[in-house]
Amino acid sequence: MNVIELQRVSVRYRTHGAKGLKEFVIRGLRGQRQHEWFASLSEIDLTIRAGESVGIIGNNGAGKSTLLRVAAGIIQPSEGVAISRGAITPLIELGTGFEGELTGHENIFFNGALLGKTRGEILSRIDEIVSFAALDGFIDEPLRTYSTGMVARLAISIATAIDTETVLLDEILAVGDASFREKCHARMRSFIERGLTVVLVSHDVDVIEQLCVRAIWLEHGRIVADGPAREVIARYQRARATSPV
Ligand SMILES: Nc1ncnc2c1ncn2[C@@H]1O[C@H](COP(=O)(O)OP(=O)(O)OP(=O)(O)O)[C@@H](O)[C@H]1O
Ligand SMILES: [Mg+2]
Repeated sequence: MNVIELQRVSVRYRTHGAKGLKEFVIRGLRGQRQHEWFASLSEIDLTIRAGESVGIIGNNGAGKSTLLRVAAGIIQPSEGVAISRGAITPLIELGTGFEGELTGHENIFFNGALLGKTRGEILSRIDEIVSFAALDGFIDEPLRTYSTGMVARLAISIATAIDTETVLLDEILAVGDASFREKCHARMRSFIERGLTVVLVSHDVDVIEQLCVRAIWLEHGRIVADGPAREVIARYQRARATSPV
């Protein structure tokens, strides 16, 4: 079964076309402000089957996050068709379903409800969520007192404890400290072994090579290479070594 299907998907944003603030203001004064279109993704054809582990690589601005957002249904393509099937957990904008004044414990129920889970379902997982996040003394403190890494641990712990079929991760495995990162990698490995679909955006190609069978290299909104992770990563690294940055 295909869990994600993108057919000639393009995502475009309107920009003002001016090079810098001064030109933007001058054009506005002259009534010459023109809009241009900028393509974050151009004519992407992509199929991800159930149980695949796919890494997405590419330089800053290549379109990786845009691709995940389209796959998660968070944004609609400007052109083309995006289809996704089954339960998808997007770990993209961490902490969007959190409230600073609520405690970590209360946020677990709040966030779980936003993810469509009942109180009973959360209750049955609460010990696991708290222990994976390893926030010990802080779980009954308001979230606003947490460090960035602590908020991320809680968000990852909740999202990955909840039953799902496909997990989309944007860079988030890099946020925790070394021991939490290792726990996250182990959890992703167990997801992949259990047959879940995992799509992972990362600048850390070693993590992608360890976790993913397949890799996709994006540049300027287009797919440059799609195939066995080891081969695609080797091509990407060769290209980076030879092109001036
Ligand atoms: N809401 C938006 N409005 C205008 N342009 C956008 C918007 N979102 C993304 N873009 C542009 O689309 C391009 C791709 O962005 P995207 O965030 O997908 O890149 P990325 O590969 O995730 O980069 P990074 O490695 O820095 O996270 C960038 O040039 C970005 O400026
Ligand atoms: Mg990104």
